[in-house]
Amino acid sequence: MDKALKIIHISKRNQQEGELEMNTTVVHVGNYVDKDETYAQSVDILSKGGILAFPTETVYGLAADATKEQAVAQIFEAKGRPSDNPLIVHVGRMEQVEALVTDVPETARQLMDAFWPGPLTIVMRMRPNVLANNVTPGLETVGIRMPSHPVALGLLRRLDFPLAAPSANRSGKPSPTEASHVLTDLKGIIPLILDGGSTDVGLESTIIDVTTEEPTILRPGGVTKEQIERVIGPVKADAHLTSDQVPRAPGMKYMHYAPDAPLFVIEPDAALLAEAVQEVHAKGQRVAIVGPEELHTEAADWYFSIGQMDQPEKLAAHLYRALRQCDATEADVILAVAMELEGLGLAFMNRLNKAADGKHYVGE
Ligand code: TXA
Ligand code: MG
Repeated sequence: MDKALKIIHISKRNQQEGELEMNTTVVHVGNYVDKDETYAQSVDILSKGGILAFPTETVYGLAADATKEQAVAQIFEAKGRPSDNPLIVHVGRMEQVEALVTDVPETARQLMDAFWPGPLTIVMRMRPNVLANNVTPGLETVGIRMPSHPVALGLLRRLDFPLAAPSANRSGKPSPTEASHVLTDLKGIIPLILDGGSTDVGLESTIIDVTTEEPTILRPGGVTKEQIERVIGPVKADAHLTSDQVPRAPGMKYMHYAPDAPLFVIEPDAALLAEAVQEVHAKGQRVAIVGPEELHTEAADWYFSIGQMDQPEKLAAHLYRALRQCDATEADVILAVAMELEGLGLAFMNRLNKAADGKHYVGE
């Protein structure tokens, strides 16, 4: 057995026994990997069936060779992810797509031309027997994307296989937008984290299914519905993606992020915020707020400002970090200020409503 694999197995056993963990190395790469040695080390780990964390423009990913079942299995183990939740496959070259799918529909071509490399995952019909079975368990489709982050692209273009990569968080935590988040979640479990700084988009890619009659957005993300419709015309987006009607169990199949303290979505209204803070304090409890700079209030026990209201890109980019910051406080209640349901606001509210499990603070 190769070294990377061996270390991981040992580390797992040791973790269960509460003993020594494996060494997790963090290599600072910034926006470009200028050291061939870092790429060589990464290529070596992945080629031997190991896993590592790398920056993409959306969130950090946890990568493995998508053609090796053993390698992909380690992703599920490291994340503690349900094994029936499919992984996105990342490519560095357009030609790789043809090998992975039975056909590339015209809409997919238009979308790739317009948005790749970038935060758009396209679900197409999978060509059988190319990818490891555990990448898309039980499905006949595969979600593919070409990330635009120079480190991600540089790595992918040095490989002759695609990378299966979910977000590099432990299942149930917000996706990591900084290497430190990955370290918090996966220290001692993975051998290498490529630290490319804070990710630009800060929310995961948009997932669009082009195998249906009318293309369907399965998850709103970094590319907006408006942008997509300008290229391919009307697309469907399931109502539950954008409303606060979060599907409840048993329909809600997969674990999603939920903080320890109850989180309430609140409209961007200073008076309403003041009322909510007062209500929490009246119960002798403490409150953390995630919101725009403009609504900053000293009355809150913690206020995590994520950007100005007229800068949706900033608000989206800083949401996950702020949620992790809230989790690190002793707040009994978290309030998160809503964005408009348009543009990036769709993805923002999709993640926030899930974290809130549909809870809204409406006041009196
Ligand atoms: O921005 C992103 O997409 C990041 C970076 C690392 O690329 N990745 C990411 O992966 O968010 P993950 O595993 O956290 O989320 C992937 C989502 C899951 O909800 C999964 O159910 C869905 O994509 N998915 C994957 N393959 C699919 C398929 N064939 N059909 C429908 N949904 C699929
Ligand atoms: Mg994820």
